Amino acid sequence: MYSNDLLSNLPENLDYPPMDEPLRQMYFIRELKKVFDRKEQELGRKLSFAVVTFGCQMNAHDSEKLEGILATAGLEASDEETADIVIYNTCTVRENANMKLYGHLGQLKAKKKNNPEMVIGLCGCMMQQPEIVTTIREKFRFVDVVFGTFNIFMLAELLYRHYTGEKQVIEVLKDPVGNPENSLPERRKFSFKSGVNIMYGCNNFCTFCIVPHVRGRERSRIPEDIIDEVKRLAVDGVTEVMLLGQNVNSYGVNFMEESNIIKNNPEYSFPDLLADVCKVDGIKRVRFMTSHPKDLSDRLIEVIRDNPKVCRQIHLPVQSGSSRLLKIMNRRYTKEHYLGLIDKIRKEIPDVSISTDIMVGFPGETEEDFAETMDLVDKVGFDQVFTFVYSIRSGTPAAKMEQVPEEITKERFDRLLKLVNVKAKEKVGRFKNQTVEVLVEDVDSHDSEMVTGRMNNNTTVHFKGCKELVGQYVMVKLSEEKGFYYIGEMVGQ
Ligand code: SAH
Ligand code: SF4
Ligand code: F3S
Repeated sequence: MYSNDLLSNLPENLDYPPMDEPLRQMYFIRELKKVFDRKEQELGRKLSFAVVTFGCQMNAHDSEKLEGILATAGLEASDEETADIVIYNTCTVRENANMKLYGHLGQLKAKKKNNPEMVIGLCGCMMQQPEIVTTIREKFRFVDVVFGTFNIFMLAELLYRHYTGEKQVIEVLKDPVGNPENSLPERRKFSFKSGVNIMYGCNNFCTFCIVPHVRGRERSRIPEDIIDEVKRLAVDGVTEVMLLGQNVNSYGVNFMEESNIIKNNPEYSFPDLLADVCKVDGIKRVRFMTSHPKDLSDRLIEVIRDNPKVCRQIHLPVQSGSSRLLKIMNRRYTKEHYLGLIDKIRKEIPDVSISTDIMVGFPGETEEDFAETMDLVDKVGFDQVFTFVYSIRSGTPAAKMEQVPEEITKERFDRLLKLVNVKAKEKVGRFKNQTVEVLVEDVDSHDSEMVTGRMNNNTTVHFKGCKELVGQYVMVKLSEEKGFYYIGEMVGQ
């Protein structure tokens, strides 16, 4: 699932790192492979890696690139418990994401004592914050390599520096330098589906959010690059792609070529890209995330409606039902606008599933604001809601606003969760007894006679089946509804 061809393209006699990325990185992958080969001979065993991912789809996809580099350098995939090289790809969207990492690090320290070959790497969003890097430098000396979201492509080079004697290798770029990792190997988690980055960063600066601070300004990949990647994936057996960006609806506002942002092309925006991706032979399902309500256009709704390959699923984070709070959050839409959007979407795409993110306890949230959120949830009837307790992110404007007491937030959060569950159960159940197409994703982890897959609208279905079905599209009758998922029976292929 990764390409060794790239390595064989490297000139044999190249004995110094070239300047051009990604050739430079392929050089380091080759040198690293030599280091690992020597170590494996000495130890008489294979060396292994694990990349542990926290956070969103973006990070998950970055991890596939990190894994591609390590696999091409000759390492075997393993798990966090046993791997020699463990990389944590971190998230920092909420404080508990940070706490989780520190918990894991504590455990690793003990393991490292027992395995002298062990190498620990940290990367991802948390590492883009200088104060975190200082903490790692001062308090976590046993961490070997630290890098950020803009230089995941450098993994081989940084590991090589570690193996050639540098103590704690820290290299966190402040700004993007293009995305050379797109030309490096990747190791996909699933053979039949894949994420595809269509843009990076975010320009929205919602007042609670750290993402623009750790992922940089918004920049879109040029359409040709994206379509080429999708074509390559299709040739490789992928039938489902998920187009990834923090706000896919503003795709094309800032195109980039390498590190240079090239000017906006008003002729080509997200609906065009979506339609073009659907035209790629072999691709059967196209998903995308995330949509921002302020930018979701009528044209996008039409393109979804007219392209059966686009999955009937829209993730449209609302955050709050209070127009007053939405303004302070800098979301740039109102409750009414959001409700209007939902009506429009449902009118044009009647079978669509709509999911959202909601935050409770944003600074200054009053009981009236919260009642607006409850009212919105009641009116919309989401298929799925991801609920979050507001978490202070230092450096964001909301961090300096008056905070809501914890017990009030907690009580509201519980009330919201109750309503969300009741509404989602009503919604998901609407397909009961229908026969639908399911893409089989895996053998059930608890029962080897069962498989699990997803409907076009992303709902999970479990049914009797065998591992040969993984990656195939089958017809399943949804016989039993279990709240958020179905138990079904396969009725055809
Ligand atoms: N780009 C996406 C969201 C990315 S972050 C969008 O704009 O919708 C995913 C979710 O994390 C957000 O939708 C929000 O609900 C939540 N989130 C972001 N910052 C947060 C914070 N400081 N505290 C709690 N939840 C937060
Ligand atoms: Fe964060 Fe807002 Fe950007 Fe989403 S749109 S990533 S919530 S700043
Ligand atoms: Fe977390 Fe970074 Fe994604 S902060 S949510 S992993 S963009």
